[in-house]
Order: sequence, then C-alpha cells, then structure tokens
Amino acid sequence: MRPYEVIHRKRDGRPVPPEAIAELVTRYAEGSVPDYQMAAFCMAVFFRGMSEPELQAMTAAMLHSGDVLDLSDIPGPKIDKHSTGGVGDKTSLALAPLVAACGVKVPMVSGRGLGHTGGTLDKLESIPGFRIHLPVARFRELTASVGACLVGQTDRIAPADRKLYALRDLTATVESIPLIAGSIMSKKLAEGIDGLVLDVKVGSGAFMKRLPDALALARTLVGIGRGMGKEVVALVTDMDQPLGRAVGNALEVKEILHLLHGGGPPDLRELTVVLGAEMLLLGRVAATNAEARGLVEQAIADGRGFRKLCEIVEAQGGDPRALVEPDRLPRAVRVVDVVAPATGVVEAVDAEAVGLAAMALGAGRSRVEDAVDPAAGIELWKRVGDRVEAGEPLAAMHVGERPLEPPDAVAARLRGAFRIGAGPASPGPLVLERIEKGEA
Ligand code: URA
Repeated sequence: MRPYEVIHRKRDGRPVPPEAIAELVTRYAEGSVPDYQMAAFCMAVFFRGMSEPELQAMTAAMLHSGDVLDLSDIPGPKIDKHSTGGVGDKTSLALAPLVAACGVKVPMVSGRGLGHTGGTLDKLESIPGFRIHLPVARFRELTASVGACLVGQTDRIAPADRKLYALRDLTATVESIPLIAGSIMSKKLAEGIDGLVLDVKVGSGAFMKRLPDALALARTLVGIGRGMGKEVVALVTDMDQPLGRAVGNALEVKEILHLLHGGGPPDLRELTVVLGAEMLLLGRVAATNAEARGLVEQAIADGRGFRKLCEIVEAQGGDPRALVEPDRLPRAVRVVDVVAPATGVVEAVDAEAVGLAAMALGAGRSRVEDAVDPAAGIELWKRVGDRVEAGEPLAAMHVGERPLEPPDAVAARLRGAFRIGAGPASPGPLVLERIEKGEA
C-alpha cells in the first residue's frame, strides 16, 4: 500500500492493514518515505488513534529497525524497569543494585533528562569516572557477572524511533498515547529483556497530568509488551510533588546512598520497595508480593544493595570511594535557602515548577545537546502536609557554575511552587493503580 493510501485511511478512521503500517515505518527509517508524509501520518494517528494490531505492527517495525539484543545465553530472567519520567525520580539507581543483589539480572538502558524531568544517565555521570557507553559485549558480560549494567542508548537501538520522535517534536504530535507507547516499548524491547516493570507517572511533574490519560498509557504499554510475549506490569504512581527530597544529579545519588544505608525519605523508600518487589515477582525469585517486598527490604538492611552498587560503579569505571565518602561527589559552591513567605501548612509542591527551577540552576537541559551541571539542584525541606513558619527554609538551592537564570529569579520560581494555606493537607496515595492486563 502506498504511503498516501495509509495516510488517507488513517485520516478517515478506517482500519489500516498492519503490514502496511510496518512497511511505512520501515521505509521511513530507510529514508524512502519523506518527512512530510510521516508527519501527516502521525497527525492522523494523533486524532484517530490506532487499533491493537496496527500498534503492534508499528512497534515491531520500530524495534526491528535496529539491533535487538539477545541475552538468552545469560541464565535466569532479565528484568528491567522504566519510568515515564518525573522530578526527583531516582529509583532506578537503587533498583538495579537491589534487584541484582536478590538474584535477578537487570540489563538497563536508560535515557538523559530533558526539560523539567531528570534522567538516570545524568545522575550516574555525576559519579566520577562512571562510563555510560560500553560496547555491547561488555554490557552483556557485566549483566551476567555483576548482575546489572546501566548504559545509554546507542544509535543502533530503534533508530526509527529516534527519527520519528524528532519529527513528532516538530509537528506537535508527541502527546499521542499510541505514539508514546510504541516509542517507549520499541526501545525497551530491544534490550533483550524477559520482563519489564513500568512506572507510569501522573501529576504536575509528569508527562501525563491526568489519571485517565496515565491509565490509558499504562494499559497500552502493557498491551504492547504482552503482545510481544514479554511479562509486563505497570504501576501508575504519583508525580504531583517531587519524589523524595533531592532534585539534581549528585544530590539524587546522595539520597540513594542514604536509602541503601536504610534511611532516605519514606516515599522514595516505599516506591523503591514496591517497584523492586514487582521486578522480583517477574523474575520469579519470590512467590508473593509480601515475600518479594521482604527480599528487597532485607537487601537494604544487610547492605547487599549498597555493596552491589559499589560493584556496578567500579565495573563501569566509576570511583566507588565517592559512594563511601559522598563528599567526593560534585558539590555546588553556593547553597542558598528559599524561605516561606507565610505561616501555614504546605498544601502542594508543584513538581513541574520544582523541576524547571532545578533546570534553571543548571541541573537540567532544554535541548538534548546541552550539558548539565552535576552539582546543581534543589533540596526540599518541606513537603505536602508539613507545617511551616514564615521565614523558615522551604528548600535549598544548590547553584551551578553557569545557572541558566539568576538565582534570585529561580528562588521566586521555587517559592511559587509551594502553596501554603490553612490546611490540613496530606499527600495522595503513592501508587494509584496496578495494571497487568493491557490493551494496545
Ligand atoms: N518517551 C519516549 O521514549 N517516547 C515518547 O514518545 C515519549 C516519551
């Protein structure tokens, strides 16, 4: 079927043969379908959606546009976790070592932060020497011997998605559930995993601001994964306020070290245990959720998670002394408190606004090619439900060497992220839904 005909059918809401969708995507990746036709197709999908067979065909074509790893020679289940992105969302840094310490292999291909959301790769790179680009053979070797390896995407993973995402970014077609789901799953399924736990964020700091959209995305992601014979579970979790207290790369690594030593903020600890337990269940090292939670908690309590993180860091060229003595991690030269303008109860902390403030201090990037300052970021002293007196610190700004905005302007932004009222207020549930049956 000619591209024109595929676009025409999709525009009119008529079914498109899955093979025709696959051919369109493959030919687009090869360069024989022009951007303008693919842009028209994306816009038609934006308005008309996709049927399950259409979405499966598109995702498979994107997946097979590049290399698909085969880790089947490594014994045991290989399980990864993917988050749709948030602010202060650092669970991957703890999950990889904890789950590996419990006997499940974690081959993790992560991304960088963009806009107000952070990325695992930037956090890892704040550890001196840590290398996120490794040859595939080394990725395979470390997954087998250490139990976990955390790397960046190569150009050879789902190149069709890379090209398509850039086009969607320019044509206002990013916010389409089938296009987002196909994009995420084509990259994750290229890792050679057996199972995947998805953390679909919802709230002000998330891609999906509303629960019905997050649920629809979660069901679609699970549907694609199951359709491709993988075990996939999605949790829809809160991202209305940042997760934990630290936002910014080295600050988030430090918070993970606290967690692995048995401390850390309760919401971060709980979400780590919940996601870790789901990974262990998919990895079949536990039979019940209670048993799986117990295993993750035990790996924190007896220090195996921390020791595994040291092992991972050392294997990937990083300096494990920075984990034992966190003062060796990058530190900002200026730390400035932002104080409460009024007395009351914190009723909301706008995660997106905090993420944008951290980015303005140098912790994030607005374009993929920008560099981040590993030391920059924000520590939140007050969270939803906390009482605060006028003049008391709400947060501390760790100002990078080249902030994108003057710190005074960022302080005003940050103050605006806190809604202080008469209260009472309490945070909503951390996990809003668990989805294991999908619909693509
Ligand atoms: N993340 C992705 O990988 N793809 C999208 O389309 C949106 C978010």
